[in-house]
Amino acid sequence: MRKHIVAGNWKMNNDLAQTERLIADLKKQSKTSDTEVMIAPTFTNLWQAFQNLRDYKIEVIAQNMHYAENGAFTGEISASMLKSIGVSTVILGHSERRAYFNETDDLLAKKVDAALAENMRVIFCFGEELADRKAENQETVVENQIKNALFHLDADAFNNILLAYEPVWAIGTGETASPEQVQDMHAFIRQILETKYGKNVADSVSILYGGSVKPNNAKEIFSKPDVDGGLIGGASLNAEDFFAIANAF
Ligand code: 13P
Repeated sequence: MRKHIVAGNWKMNNDLAQTERLIADLKKQSKTSDTEVMIAPTFTNLWQAFQNLRDYKIEVIAQNMHYAENGAFTGEISASMLKSIGVSTVILGHSERRAYFNETDDLLAKKVDAALAENMRVIFCFGEELADRKAENQETVVENQIKNALFHLDADAFNNILLAYEPVWAIGTGETASPEQVQDMHAFIRQILETKYGKNVADSVSILYGGSVKPNNAKEIFSKPDVDGGLIGGASLNAEDFFAIANAF
């Protein structure tokens, strides 16, 4: 049985006071459920968020990290630093990191290795741009992103990998991929995992969808058999909306 996961990617939003307020709101909405709930505040607020949510079933995760253990990498944060404050899951490969910070598949492969070496869980993001979709090239793009960054791993590593399909054209645009488009892509991803690693791995990896998931469309998207959760941007900044999505399973 695959885990159902709803993760809020706060991106570069919320200062300390706003973080505390949103967490207070989240605590009010939080209730016991089988869906794993996570939030990814900015680096500066991770510790505060972690302390605040110690007794709640809301995991605090990071939006990014560097691949090196430490050293002369001004402005960067390592996996062991995240672990030292209680963060053990990290988002890697978000399309905004790829587009604005030139993160390549090769770099992401190193980051994935560094996170797994620290026993962290990785939410690995990928997805095609609008031009790829228009050219009906989305499967090739996604296949390459996954192969280049992950297919050097052995099967056991996938115990700590979650996948997040986020078509770039659906992020922050209000335009959601249709539930059928999402299902088709998730089934395709499972197929390439099965070809490389076998059915057990393919059936056990949770695949999340991200891109304009809102309370009014979450249920339909999550009802698809190969959709195991969501990575939520804008709607995760409102506690009521975020939990309406998390409770959509
Ligand atoms: P939106 O939900 O704002 O479209 O963002 C999705 C996303 O990028 C989550 O990582």
